[in-house]
Amino acid sequence: MIIVLLGPPGTGKGTQAAAIKERFSLPHISTGDIFRKNLADGTPLGLEAKGFMERGELVPDKLVLELVEDRLKNPDTEKGFLLDGFPRTEVQATQLDKALSSQGTGIDHVVLLLVPDEVIVGRLSGRRVCKSCGHVWHMDFNPPPAGGTCPDCGGEVYQRADDMAEAIENRLLVYKKETGPLISYYEAKGLIRQIDGNQSPQLVQEAIFKALG
Ligand code: AP5
Repeated sequence: MIIVLLGPPGTGKGTQAAAIKERFSLPHISTGDIFRKNLADGTPLGLEAKGFMERGELVPDKLVLELVEDRLKNPDTEKGFLLDGFPRTEVQATQLDKALSSQGTGIDHVVLLLVPDEVIVGRLSGRRVCKSCGHVWHMDFNPPPAGGTCPDCGGEVYQRADDMAEAIENRLLVYKKETGPLISYYEAKGLIRQIDGNQSPQLVQEAIFKALG
């Protein structure tokens, strides 16, 4: 099964991806996580992506497409995969479709998570993340343990540079302009499974599982 998680920043794509990958035994491919890992490791790809990410802009399509193409060559994707944060532009979506149809396959579901903008701002400004394993907390709903160290892996718990107020505002604008049009692109293909993301993580998860059948 091939699933795409679509939705504005902070709607819970990463949070729900953890449950979906477990339930359907799919590898979780998050382009944001891959860029952050490259950034932490100081690779040329990470350094190239850094400025775009910190400003809340999209990394150029060419870089993203190379990265995804490379990741999809991994044999763990043979029985399907879960894409999180990709595609994000029409160029990325059409290229993905071309690559999949050349292999005789295609996307099964596009899960669209929707949450009002004012809720998104609260979620992102309160988010804290482990630099090593990517575990996500929220200062109000699910606070990280005191001491700034991840209980799972010992990594540093930090606030993403793009979770600062100015970058959040820009990310929402970029989403509306660049990624919003993908909703009608996938609607025309009958793939959109729209989910109300403005409820508890457990209820969101149940709604997604129901939509995926
Ligand atoms: P990326 O990492 O993909 O960021 P994003 O899409 O902006 O998504 P987020 O990670 O911010 O949010 P999320 O929806 O996963 O929410 P989460 O579950 O963490 O991309 C980062 C950057 O990389 C981009 O800006 C761009 O520069 C670059 N990039 C990546 N992919 C690219 C591409 N394809 N093309 C070009 N550039 C690309 O939840 C958020 C918070 O809310 C957490 O604190 C969580 O605990 C809390 N929360 C979650 N669910 C709930 C709930 N139901 N109720 C209450 N709180 C909740």
